[in-house]
Amino acid sequence: MPPETIARWRRLRVSATFRRLSLAGRRTREGENHMANVDTAQSKDGRSSHTGPKILVDGGDPAETMRVKEALGYVDGQTTNPSLIAKNPEVKKRVESGRSLTEAEESAAYRKIVQEISPLVGSAGVSIEVFADLDTTADQMLKQGQEMFTWIPNAYIKYPCTREGLKAAQRSVAQGMRVNMTLCFSQEQAAAVYAATKGTKAPSYVSPFVGRLDDIGWNGMDLLANIKRMFASGDGHTLILGASIRSLPHLMRCFQIGVDLVTVPAKVILEWVEAGRPMPDANFRYEFNGKPMEYREIDLNQPWQNFDIKHELTDKGIRKFVEDYRSTLRKAS
Ligand code: E4P
Repeated sequence: MPPETIARWRRLRVSATFRRLSLAGRRTREGENHMANVDTAQSKDGRSSHTGPKILVDGGDPAETMRVKEALGYVDGQTTNPSLIAKNPEVKKRVESGRSLTEAEESAAYRKIVQEISPLVGSAGVSIEVFADLDTTADQMLKQGQEMFTWIPNAYIKYPCTREGLKAAQRSVAQGMRVNMTLCFSQEQAAAVYAATKGTKAPSYVSPFVGRLDDIGWNGMDLLANIKRMFASGDGHTLILGASIRSLPHLMRCFQIGVDLVTVPAKVILEWVEAGRPMPDANFRYEFNGKPMEYREIDLNQPWQNFDIKHELTDKGIRKFVEDYRSTLRKAS
């Protein structure tokens, strides 16, 4: 073949590859920004195209999400909560300079943060948590949830796994909202989430908090494995989102269990990337010296009100979120 023909053929091949890559890039960017596209891009069980669970950043700082995206190449989603918002660098700077926020300013700051994060993440969306104390009613939570759901096109509204939170979630999914049920510490709470969110359009999330169970001497990872086993007999409308992940072994065990999604502090994601993105092989053993959490046979097909959903850590978690939220607010004079 004459050299000019070879050169021309190579040029054509390069430009065809470039066209394919830029088209794929455009599709990804469009798909990342709109839940409408995301829903169609998502497979039925809510998994994304890379293997393993979807990876979410557990944080409240868009710059940090960007850093993770640069290192990892993608971020499937984000979870936020009142404590993480209180730690956002701009919010913190403002509070430390003596200019605490009014409730309206706090809400505007939260909205701005999630609006910056929203276009950075993929199909797992951005979870936004309602402000709830132990007396907040389902009506009050729902009202906040409805408002927060309009902030971004890929919002998941976080309600606590309490009676009022479940009521709010049930009504939210009936209105087509996406929910992430947070502060889950027991199989019963996960079963109640499953029952309360039946009929949801997009899969609901339940967030079992591993690290906080470890903190009080349990093997928190057992809860994830138990919920996974319990949901095996379900219809797949509730996805397991491993939360309160504090270390690389936690992350590896989440991969091993095969949770649907995992939300991870930036520091741990970057550590995983740095370590060459290891995945657990047949020899991987998760070592943690906590009390084992026994599996319980639970019939998922009952009204959610039948489940015993009380848990001391759920109440403690709510109190802590309230405390951190209030720490950013101007004291009433
Ligand atoms: C995510 O949804 C949770 O709010 C988060 O993982 C809690 O983590 P922590 O127990 O380390 O505060």
